[in-house]
Amino acid sequence: MLSKKLEEALNAQINAEFWSAYLYLSMSADCASKGYGGMANWFNVQFKEEQDHAMKIFNFVISRGGKVNLRPIDKVTQSWKSPLAAFKDTLKHEIVVTKMINDLYALATEEKDYATQSMLQWFVDEQVEEEETAQAYIDALTMIGENGFGIYQFDKELATRTYTPLTTTEA
Ligand code: FEO
Repeated sequence: MLSKKLEEALNAQINAEFWSAYLYLSMSADCASKGYGGMANWFNVQFKEEQDHAMKIFNFVISRGGKVNLRPIDKVTQSWKSPLAAFKDTLKHEIVVTKMINDLYALATEEKDYATQSMLQWFVDEQVEEEETAQAYIDALTMIGENGFGIYQFDKELATRTYTPLTTTEA
């Protein structure tokens, strides 16, 4: 059985993951409106993955006999001045999420809730990848600068990303 404190914290994380999904969907819409179809695709896949993250915790709370309480999702930014600005915001946001996951893990450790620690381990590993990817794209876009052909190539590369749902054992 989940403690009330942990149940509350996991519910907050479900909201944060849905907010992340909403943020990336907004970035996808912004990229699409500016003709960056590849980046729009990349952020759309990111949007779907964030929903999976939310649902992973959602399912966990239920399987532990807890109660999911969905909260309002805060508004998100609608427009970014450049692809680089969007990826900088992505990294900034993922660093915040990493801190939230770490705090949750610390709480689960304090409460000796090993099942929650085990579930959160997946997120600890996922956050390393999330930050690494955002940083790699910031580096690439910084290198590209104002080079139109570079942006075109970068956008083409991000068009290749496909969505893979979490498997039933991971979800
Ligand atoms: Fe759910 Fe991007 O971390």
